[in-house]
Amino acid sequence: MSRAFNFSAGPAALPEPVLRQIQDEMLEWQGERASVMEVSHRGQAFIDCAAAAERDLRELMGIPADYAVLFLQGGATTLSALLPLNLAGPDQTADFVLTGHWGEKALENTRPSMKTHVAASAKAGGYTGIPGRADWQLTPGAAFVHYTPNETIHGVEFHDIPDVGDVPLVADVSSNFLSKPVDVTRFGVLYGGAQKNLGPAGLTLVIVRKDLLGRHGRDLPPIFDLQNQAKNDSMFNTPPTFAWYVLGLVLQWVKREGGATAIGERNARKAAALYAAIDGSGGYYRNTVDVAARSWMNVPFFLPDAALDKPFLKEAEAAGLLGLKGHRAVGGMRASIYNAMPEAGVQALVDFMADFARRNG
Ligand SMILES: Cc1ncc(COP(=O)(O)O)c(C=O)c1O
Repeated sequence: MSRAFNFSAGPAALPEPVLRQIQDEMLEWQGERASVMEVSHRGQAFIDCAAAAERDLRELMGIPADYAVLFLQGGATTLSALLPLNLAGPDQTADFVLTGHWGEKALENTRPSMKTHVAASAKAGGYTGIPGRADWQLTPGAAFVHYTPNETIHGVEFHDIPDVGDVPLVADVSSNFLSKPVDVTRFGVLYGGAQKNLGPAGLTLVIVRKDLLGRHGRDLPPIFDLQNQAKNDSMFNTPPTFAWYVLGLVLQWVKREGGATAIGERNARKAAALYAAIDGSGGYYRNTVDVAARSWMNVPFFLPDAALDKPFLKEAEAAGLLGLKGHRAVGGMRASIYNAMPEAGVQALVDFMADFARRNG
């Protein structure tokens, strides 16, 4: 058996050179005579490794010094509950713009901690687009506006950063982290799990404007206090060291690939090729998302008859194309084409889709 092209939504494909480097360094890392998983997070070797990852992320994303970068556990889900506690008091209001499942989850996780308001929602349309900015009903003086730039399940992506004035924008970028250049200074917070674009599961990144922390007036347990995490370089307790190390290797790989601009150009080409295959199939394959809001990362699509789903998946697997089953909330297929998916993988999928349609038309 050989490695296949993995279209899983997350945990997702990692760059093959990174996996090979991990393999090479597995037994002895950095002259430590032990693996990276077996050394102290307080030792100099790991402290250097952790600092290098932060430096590389700051360089790749252009993160200014007035933003903290936190390497935490708990996943984006935990952070969607911790962020409200750290950004505002209980009587303040958080606005939500809902374009899919994960925005709804973040709203549920915020409700117990402060007032919330849905400023705009695409739910009535089945989450197939983005409500026009002119129709958003933002709360004057809101503590923050939360949105999900890329909705992983519905395949809906903002291709511009919405203007919400002076109110801090909080973005769950789990599924489009570092997928193209982004102006960090337009955000109060960017956060997301690493397991799609940045590394293995177990690590959650938070990029937060430092002045936003510590205004909440709450008595938080130190472990939930992000200001405390920032003060302790995300090592208040034991961090997920292996995941942090792998993330560092992924960032070095992104640098070798040419950085965010080159990665973004490649992602645009991959998405264009896949949507062209769908749109050019004479209606055999369908993607129901508004063209302007189509995701570059997660491409849901439907076959003409749900009865074809099983044979499609079985034959795709046999052809070396894994993880294409759509999320149960949407059905059909979904191809996740994160940074580590090579163009050859997308081409193999496109060729398979054309062949399948020809044989099952
Ligand atoms: C956009 C988005 N937000 C949040 C989550 C949940 O992340 P986690 O499992 O890291 O809590 C996911 C997972 O797929 C996601 O895609």
